[in-house]
Amino acid sequence: MMKKQEITLRYFEVEDIRDLPDDEQELVKAAREMTKKAYAPYSSFHVGAAILLKNGEIVRGSNQENGAYPSGLCAERVAAFAASSMFPRVAMTKIAVSANSPEFRLESPVSPCGACRQVLLEYEASQQLPMKMLLSKEDGKIIIVEKIRDMLPFSFIGSKLKK
Ligand code: THU
Repeated sequence: MMKKQEITLRYFEVEDIRDLPDDEQELVKAAREMTKKAYAPYSSFHVGAAILLKNGEIVRGSNQENGAYPSGLCAERVAAFAASSMFPRVAMTKIAVSANSPEFRLESPVSPCGACRQVLLEYEASQQLPMKMLLSKEDGKIIIVEKIRDMLPFSFIGSKLKK
């Protein structure tokens, strides 16, 4: 007998940054601001990320590219690795990501790549709190996902490697 199963993704949308609580407005603004610091001469796709930590700190990152393409890193991982380096084992409670390009207009909010989801998931799994994600572009709609786990169904978790 084959049983049909289903996974549902619940997420929220606001039409404008002003529809968010103050701390999330600040975080989205920080991510939007960080797109200006991207080093993205190859893609012209400028991404910014801002992570709110349990201790109130906001750690920021932007995408960093390289002529040897795979050597570059997405904004989300730049921010998450910086946060974990500077504040090891302090929970990351919210992450805002935004993108824009000087060369083309984005149609919809940026959404993190699989590798970034995997990295964020491990940090989330190691803390007691969910990491809320706020996805946007330079203006307009913001997509909100309550936890990283929702973004990566059937995920592989590194802690399973332990005996
Ligand atoms: N990029 C990010 O920084 N974050 C994302 O969520 C999507 C992609 C970067 C990687 C690369 O520098 C450029 O955007 C184009 O893929």
